[in-house]
Amino acid sequence: MMELSRWEHEFAVEVEVPGDKSLTHRGILMSALAHGDMELTGWLDAGDTRSSLCLVKALGVEIREETPDRLVLRHARPLREPQDIIDCGNSGTTMRLGAGVLAGVAGLSVLTGDASLRRRPMARVAEPLRDGLGVQIWTKRDGRAPIVVRGGPHSGGRVELPVASAQVKSAVLLAGLSAQEAVSVVEPQATRDHTERLLAAMGGSVEVQGRIITVRPSHLTGLSFHVPGDPSSAAFWFALAALGTGRRVTVRSLLFNPTRVGFLRAMEAMGCRVEWSETGRIPESHGAVTVSGRPHRAVVIGPDQVPSMIDELPLAALLATQAPGQSVMAGAEELRVKECDRIQVTAAILRAMGAAVEERPDGWVIEGPTMLHGADVDAAGDHRMAMLAAIAATIAEGPTRIRGHESVAISYPAFFEGYQRVARIRP
Ligand code: S3P
Repeated sequence: MMELSRWEHEFAVEVEVPGDKSLTHRGILMSALAHGDMELTGWLDAGDTRSSLCLVKALGVEIREETPDRLVLRHARPLREPQDIIDCGNSGTTMRLGAGVLAGVAGLSVLTGDASLRRRPMARVAEPLRDGLGVQIWTKRDGRAPIVVRGGPHSGGRVELPVASAQVKSAVLLAGLSAQEAVSVVEPQATRDHTERLLAAMGGSVEVQGRIITVRPSHLTGLSFHVPGDPSSAAFWFALAALGTGRRVTVRSLLFNPTRVGFLRAMEAMGCRVEWSETGRIPESHGAVTVSGRPHRAVVIGPDQVPSMIDELPLAALLATQAPGQSVMAGAEELRVKECDRIQVTAAILRAMGAAVEERPDGWVIEGPTMLHGADVDAAGDHRMAMLAAIAATIAEGPTRIRGHESVAISYPAFFEGYQRVARIRP
């Protein structure tokens, strides 16, 4: 249990956020498929990415260097059959992308995870791999983990995905590298495209035509790249800035990939001031962002915007509690199958703090503005829910107590250190 109180002070700060989680996962997992070393500077060292490291180590990938800033991985040839069950911890990305990697690893692999991960849907990844590409892969009868993969030669083909999920798309693309023919995946909506971009940068044969992505079995070469700051982690600081007057936050190294910055676009639509400045394009567009100014308009977010801000939608809901008018967030039913049911838990946290939030099957309707007050809230073991509550606490009257704050270690181990640093700033 952690107790937090309201902040009254104004501040203009620069915050350094950890490296992007999605890119770090991919760098680690794709090192298993590459010839030569994979070198990541600015990598995210957190619970989730440690799960991916654990998976590739089980396949024989060697960690040649591991410091807080640099991670160097060397592939094994051939990848070896894991000697034991692989524990993916809390990480859906490790399990789903890992299943795609394992499709090409001769032998038997078993993936499991913590209680939250074992509640999440895995048929969505097993079915396209099995029915589309002929991979031998099984889940429990209820479509959940543990997952068993008997890797080896399998066919190519065309797979149409029923859900917009970058994790599932990536699993099919990675399995495509060990297929006998080309693999095409058709996604219902554009989702984050880091896997496609990395594959191309590593020399893989990948073609993107709108929502159809085709890979051909190819020889991948290891890469050396810097991981820009994670927009999903930075979003907490940007929300913090927008919740109070006289608050201003700058993040210098931030990933700008358009499939990831939907939250900043939503903040702009709500009338917050967002200043962008691109500083580089390798491995992907990145730069500095400064946010200030309170949300002064309600917002409508629909299914088209959801994938580019999927992990930040709860923060958009928090901002909407402070914006005059009715905000509507719809088409986000995927949030119910994240680390917890984020539609329900976000509504529970914000309502406990006095917000007017109506829960819908696929989102929320929020009336603003409302004064928030402190409350006892439960993060449901979910890192993003714990950070959401901590940011809300800064504008709440009276103390907020958060159960499960330690879950931040999954994606942002230094979150509360950063929080205390900003809390102590005095003008
Ligand atoms: C991720 C994709 C998203 C996101 C998750 C990371 C990725 O999940 O919620 O935090 O790295 O591909 P889905 O693809 O299941 O929507």
